[in-house]
Amino acid sequence: MSKHKDKLACIITYGCQMNEHDSEKLAGVLEGEGYKATKELEKADIIILNTCCVRENAELKVYGKVGQLKRLKEENPDLIIGICGCMMQQDEVVKEIKEKYRHVDIVFGTHNIHHFPELLQKAKEDKNPLVRVWDESKELIPDMPVQRTDDYRAWVTIIYGCNNFCTYCIVPYVRGREKSRPLENIVGEIKGLVEDGVKEITLLGQNVNSYGNDFEDGTDFADLLAAINEVEGLARIRFMTSHPKDCSDRLIEAVAKLDKVCPHFHLPVQAGSNNVLKAMNRGYTREEYLELVSKIRESNPEASIGTDVIVGFPGETEEDFQDTLDLFKKVKYDMTYNFIYSKRTGTPAAKKEDQVSEEEKKERLQRLIDLQKNISMENNQKYLGETVEVLVEGESKNNPDRLTGRTDTNKIVIFESDEDLTGELVDVKIDKVQSWTLYGNLVD
Ligand code: SAH
Ligand code: SF4
Ligand code: F3S
Repeated sequence: MSKHKDKLACIITYGCQMNEHDSEKLAGVLEGEGYKATKELEKADIIILNTCCVRENAELKVYGKVGQLKRLKEENPDLIIGICGCMMQQDEVVKEIKEKYRHVDIVFGTHNIHHFPELLQKAKEDKNPLVRVWDESKELIPDMPVQRTDDYRAWVTIIYGCNNFCTYCIVPYVRGREKSRPLENIVGEIKGLVEDGVKEITLLGQNVNSYGNDFEDGTDFADLLAAINEVEGLARIRFMTSHPKDCSDRLIEAVAKLDKVCPHFHLPVQAGSNNVLKAMNRGYTREEYLELVSKIRESNPEASIGTDVIVGFPGETEEDFQDTLDLFKKVKYDMTYNFIYSKRTGTPAAKKEDQVSEEEKKERLQRLIDLQKNISMENNQKYLGETVEVLVEGESKNNPDRLTGRTDTNKIVIFESDEDLTGELVDVKIDKVQSWTLYGNLVD
């Protein structure tokens, strides 16, 4: 047996798919430097926290974790600790880390993630903490090697940043303005992924519908989908998130027409009341949103629709909240991410005086969750007795004898199999449904 001990790296990721994907890039760099991945903090030679600041909870978790790392650093002074991601694009956070968490070696932001290799090298040579957070540049972040977490599914960024400035949201401040990646780069990357065995890709952007707005030649998201649909060997194309205000007819048609594009729309509504939508600067009314949903249902009858919603936005009255409940009843979503409004310093909504009490916010959240659970359960009844195509993701977490995967409509399916079918597309006949899961048996 070799005496050589592998160097180990532990990356902890908070936040959305963009961050998950950035972490795959950091893992790609670390792999190139000879590190193996570990989930155990105690064993790691390098620990990276990739942070999120979209809600206060996310930030509190990060502070808790950084505090915890102090003891590890005391026990092992050679341990390298890095913090990066969205939280680090805020000056006051970086200041606090510098002052109060002196065991942190490297701090960098979302705009200079591609400089991680250099920073890592410097940190190894020099024990002084390094803080390098860039303001946004006009250049696209260069493509980086990626160490994927999944063999058959991959994320592909198509557009960075956000121009929308919803009044509650900090993302545009920490991720900068919209910048689309050239179509050829994206298609080239996807071809490479497919050669590598990938069957399903998810196109990522804060607002994928804005794809190409910064190009001169008129290329838009529907064009991109059409180009990707041509990639041989690829089975499924997913995308998120699409902003309702610019979900075009062309896009809806493209989803209906292109065989590889999954019939699933994640269409964050955020609120059901026109007063609140206006105060949020969302750029659509409740009526326009409902109209959009009807259009989608007409051209893609089998499509599933998901959403994000915020309860307790400043000034939200019980009547406004009733509008959200009512909209949920009308749309009958398949899947919803429900959030309690969280005040983000620097955003316009944080300055509003009519903040809703924590108690009220929690109570509204619970009412919404209870309602949606029933709706999802009701929606899933239509799958009973149907045969669905599932891309198998692996063993079910709760029962290793069963496999789990997803339908093209993004429903989780659990079924029994003696064989490991991970990465394969199989047919499953559904015989039992719950709110968030379908159960069934393999069909030959
Ligand atoms: N670009 C995506 C959303 C990115 S953030 C879009 O516009 O659809 C993911 C979700 O977090 C948002 O959809 C919103 O529901 C929620 N969110 C953002 N800021 C928030 C805040 N201050 N408080 C609570 N939820 C928030
Ligand atoms: Fe935030 Fe709105 Fe941009 Fe989404 S579209 S990232 S919610 S500002
Ligand atoms: Fe969080 Fe940044 Fe994503 S703030 S939600 S990790 S873009």
